[in-house]
Amino acid sequence: MFSIPSQPKPWHSYTPITLPPSSSTQPFHNKSILPLRISNTLDENSQTKQSSAGKIKRQVLTQEGRTKLNSYPDREFYAYPRFVTHVDDGFISTLTKLYRDRLRPGWEILDLMSSWVSHLPKEVVYKRVVGHGLNAQELAKSPRLDYFFVKDLNQDQKLELESCSFDAVLCTVSVQYLQQPEKVFAEVFRVLRPGGVFIVSFSNRLFYEKAVSAWRDGTGYSRVQLVVQYFQCVEGFTQPEIIRKLPSSNGAQAEKSPFSWFMRLLGLFSGGDPFYAVIAYKNFKPLYE
Ligand SMILES: C[S@@+](CC[C@H](N)C(=O)[O-])C[C@H]1O[C@@H](n2cnc3c(N)ncnc32)[C@H](O)[C@@H]1O
Repeated sequence: MFSIPSQPKPWHSYTPITLPPSSSTQPFHNKSILPLRISNTLDENSQTKQSSAGKIKRQVLTQEGRTKLNSYPDREFYAYPRFVTHVDDGFISTLTKLYRDRLRPGWEILDLMSSWVSHLPKEVVYKRVVGHGLNAQELAKSPRLDYFFVKDLNQDQKLELESCSFDAVLCTVSVQYLQQPEKVFAEVFRVLRPGGVFIVSFSNRLFYEKAVSAWRDGTGYSRVQLVVQYFQCVEGFTQPEIIRKLPSSNGAQAEKSPFSWFMRLLGLFSGGDPFYAVIAYKNFKPLYE
């Protein structure tokens, strides 16, 4: 196992390493770059003949809906580490409580689009937490990650991870940056074990220029519906469950406004960040066409 040097190397100079088998009893104390495991999930031919589970049934976003105001590569935007929290303490404590309720100790967890914080409850011991993001320095600093890898999901959605290898996948305050969410959700489905859970959480904060137009121009309500559709477009997820926690009556008002981020900036809405989570499980049942 390789350990991360104290001065993290740029992402492109990392060398793939060998990952201990998930059944290994050896504890993973050193954070390492996750090895590349080439999968061919997005290849239609890789689906088992009998089951249609994991197939993309329909496209949710139009071409226009996938566009961003800032069309430069995302890697450039995330080239420098941001050691900040992207949501307030209330949001984070709600999320941590949700994780405490839904994620069992000893699980294997993938934190997609992560940074230097994972929001997992500190006292819970998981078997393995793998992080993914666009900035290696942020990921290397995250105390919760045993491994991490850097990959631009708008360039290539294939996750070089074994099928059915995680009990839970998390995506926190980041789903709005995905331009190919249908393919990413299909990949999440593939890497989840049957019964595994995908928790997508978000608020109304965003890097406006980097969010897809379908999200940018939406409201709290429409964004929840969008994420529900991302789940529903993949065959085999359970009916998504929605959790909303709005800070106050002001918060409910803000949810209806597409300009809530701007009004919040001007201090016209008080209260904390609204909390939304959309959650679904990988169905146990095989599905047939
Ligand atoms: C607002 S931050 C959220 C980070 C973290 N999940 C958290 O809770 O603080 C958005 C994250 O999305 C990731 N991201 C944005 N665009 C991406 C892309 N095209 N491919 C992969 N990750 C991306 C970045 O690495 C960044 O850390």
